[in-house]
Amino acid sequence: MIAMAILPILIHPDPRLKTVCEPVPDMSDELRTLADDMLLTMYDAPGIGLAAPQIGVLQRVIVMDCVKEEGAEPKPVAMFNPEVTASSDITNVYEEGCLSIPEQYAEVTRPKLVQVRWMDRDGKLQEQEFDGLWATCVQHEIDHLDGKLFIDYLKPLRRQMITRKMQKLKRERARKAL
Ligand code: NI
Repeated sequence: MIAMAILPILIHPDPRLKTVCEPVPDMSDELRTLADDMLLTMYDAPGIGLAAPQIGVLQRVIVMDCVKEEGAEPKPVAMFNPEVTASSDITNVYEEGCLSIPEQYAEVTRPKLVQVRWMDRDGKLQEQEFDGLWATCVQHEIDHLDGKLFIDYLKPLRRQMITRKMQKLKRERARKAL
């Protein structure tokens, strides 16, 4: 039996969050367990998306659940080797946040609609169009697999300000852990 685990989430700045991740090979029980652990970690945070590099695993795996309505059925999605295959010219602005950049939010402009292809947990190829919050989330998570954070879309000054806050947060946490 494999026990599921909530994993620690890396905080920016961290070289692992700046790494281009490797594609996963064929589906395996290890990868399914990784996705389950990531979903558990994401729900616990709580967040609506999580990418493997955020827990220090440099492989192309993301999980999401953008269902926000209270009482609605959860809709956990795990994607392996996800790829945007088409995106709309029409854009959308969302105030984004990130579990690796706690309590910092900023407006980011992205394509409103994206077509995404990925391998599911059964090793089957899937392709689907995403809109609204799901589209923003899937693009944000796929960016993580290429070492890109939402603050990379901001002006340098704003990005540096947020990075300095995160460095301070990490120092405080390290002190508390002593
Ligand atoms: Ni993120």
